[in-house]
Amino acid sequence: MKKGKFIVVDGGEGSGKTTMVALAKEHFPEMVFTREPGGSPFAEKIRAVILSPEAKDAHGETQFGLFWAARFDHLQNTIIPALQRGVHVLSDRFDSSSFVYQMHGQEARHLRDMFWKMREVYVRDGQPDLYIFLDVEPEVGLSRVAKRKETTNHFDDRALDFHKRIRNGYFEFLKSVPHVVINANQSTEEVRTDFLRTLKQVLG
Ligand code: TMP
Repeated sequence: MKKGKFIVVDGGEGSGKTTMVALAKEHFPEMVFTREPGGSPFAEKIRAVILSPEAKDAHGETQFGLFWAARFDHLQNTIIPALQRGVHVLSDRFDSSSFVYQMHGQEARHLRDMFWKMREVYVRDGQPDLYIFLDVEPEVGLSRVAKRKETTNHFDDRALDFHKRIRNGYFEFLKSVPHVVINANQSTEEVRTDFLRTLKQVLG
């Protein structure tokens, strides 16, 4: 039986996700903070494969399988045990990212039915209580990333069109799950306020 709350933070490149997760860590240090791809020792190994340069040209279908394999391990070894102990969990990305990056970004839309089936079979009672979507216009997000001159991965480096498809994908996904959309085009200060208010509401 799940006792803790499971929250997912997701968003496109440059949405400020990393900053918001760091903020959540400061305010809710007792929670378990985790991420996808990864979040358990074996899933972190799969992450390294997924983000390796060799994976750049892998099809959406290939990536989709790898992400789900990593996710099941992550759920079984990190997320579900914490929730059962009554600890709240915040994951930086989850299945919402597969829906948008593989099915919309990488245009593997024929996986749609399989996505919902995988979710039913793999996620089962580990369903998130809330998805917090940090919504940034792709032009704004990508220009923030360019300014930061951070190391990027092969998903970050794709064309603007890819990121526009991703944003549309999020809105489609969110129709089916409990969610809050935060306008991440605002200043960091405004996004912080909205984000903390949302977390306080859901965690009580
Ligand atoms: P990160 O940039 O948040 O560390 O995430 C790594 C990359 O993996 C990011 O570009 C999004 C991508 N990704 C997918 O394509 N599908 C997924 O299911 C997940 C969890 C991440």
